[in-house]
Amino acid sequence: MAASAFSGEGAGSPAASVRRRGADLCSIDDLDEDALADLLGRALAVAEGPFLPEVLGGRQILAAFREPSTRTRMSFEVAAHRLGAAFVAYDGGAATSAVKGESPIDALRNLDAMGFDAVVVRDRQGGWPRALCAELGARVLNAGDGTNEHPTQALLDAATILEAHGRAPAAGSGALRGLRVAICGDLLHSRVVGSNLRLLPRLGASVILAGPPGLCGPELRRPGVEIAASLDEAIRGADVVMMLRIQRERLPAALELPDDRAYHAAWGLTEARLALASPRAIVLHPGPMNRGVEIADAVADGPRSRILRQVRLGVAVRMAALARACGRLSHLPSPA
Ligand code: CP
Repeated sequence: MAASAFSGEGAGSPAASVRRRGADLCSIDDLDEDALADLLGRALAVAEGPFLPEVLGGRQILAAFREPSTRTRMSFEVAAHRLGAAFVAYDGGAATSAVKGESPIDALRNLDAMGFDAVVVRDRQGGWPRALCAELGARVLNAGDGTNEHPTQALLDAATILEAHGRAPAAGSGALRGLRVAICGDLLHSRVVGSNLRLLPRLGASVILAGPPGLCGPELRRPGVEIAASLDEAIRGADVVMMLRIQRERLPAALELPDDRAYHAAWGLTEARLALASPRAIVLHPGPMNRGVEIADAVADGPRSRILRQVRLGVAVRMAALARACGRLSHLPSPA
């Protein structure tokens, strides 16, 4: 095998040169307007959970997660089962040959040789999924890479907003026009933000960000994205309020934050703050939630919360993403 950017490394690092392939999903940018509308439309069409084993019967999906996950990994697994695919998980942990010195890329090359159709990857290194596209025969789906992107999370967020606000994905770049989406909390270390800032403005939403110093900064500003001076300013009039936890596993050691109680007082979503939002506002959170820190119990479990609906639609979005990766998206039902 020719030398690659992975050669001779321990933990592995992203290849400098990458290539894009049609059915990989490493970034929201991998989806053009038609692909985006088709994927979201078909995801919403399977949201109530039909089992469609003929769609991916005989296909094999690998999950290669080197970071913890509950929702993403399990919902990809549920999605694979609903479509009839076999699902195998590899974590590079103590029960694998990683402990004998095998590098992550050698392990994945060996697993790829077993004939997987698609590999779903979560890793602490940004760029790792894209780099794998140059190394593996299987199509690559990014399930979260460092602080970079988490495209299926943004897609399920968009599906939840479309559904709650009665919008049609077929409207493409105008699907969320006129909606104001506030995203609040730890934005600088969030891959969910990385994908949502690529997706929501493309769908026509205006996005307003708010977070404390060190967790939010002007580098996030771009067309269609503003930064508010306070949480109240971001929430005022919002149609969607998305709260994010502090990504403590990715914070610089020198960053000093208030304790949980003080953070909640300044940056937590309470019922009083939510009253500033539009009367039709919904509340989103990608999970895991830190209750009493970025979100109050009464909001997380309240009537405007769509947090568990996000999880449900996450299975549907991952069904569509897996079907697309295997060239079978057209075999899912069309939107009504
Ligand atoms: N939203 C999300 O990525 O959750 P998990 O870390 O549990 O997969």
